[in-house]
Amino acid sequence: MKIDWPQLRAAAVDVAGRAYAPYSRLRVGAAGLTGDGRVVTGCNVENASFGLTLCAECGLVSALHATPPAAEGAQQGSAPAPPGLVAVAVVAGDGAPLLPCGRCRQLLLEAGGPELLVDTVEGPLPLSDLLPAAFGGADLSARREG
Ligand code: THU
Repeated sequence: MKIDWPQLRAAAVDVAGRAYAPYSRLRVGAAGLTGDGRVVTGCNVENASFGLTLCAECGLVSALHATPPAAEGAQQGSAPAPPGLVAVAVVAGDGAPLLPCGRCRQLLLEAGGPELLVDTVEGPLPLSDLLPAAFGGADLSARREG
């Protein structure tokens, strides 16, 4: 599918403007394109208890699950898993790309898989380049006991 990177970056810049980052003063915005063409966004939300800070990508992943595909909007009962992310742009308040932290790379892996394209200053890269040899759900199935 065609990825409109300028639109995705603009959505990330826009949502970075709504970040709540009074402690670090680093605003972050994240925008993701889903396989069914939706754009979902998130911004960082800090807390006086610093360890409770939510990264922008956490908000994005929550929005991905919270927003059903339009065709299933009217459906009742338990909703199926939404189509995953295919592309993500994360920016700081200055508008330039910000590489996701390690925890968020792991979150994005589950939301988009290793082929998920992540914007960088050098252009989009697959998430597998940023999180090689990742732990994932398959490891759980293969290695858990009982
Ligand atoms: N931050 C994000 O939102 N995403 C990242 O991937 C890296 C860091 C936020 C968390 C915190 O509010 C601020 O940036 C400084 O770490």
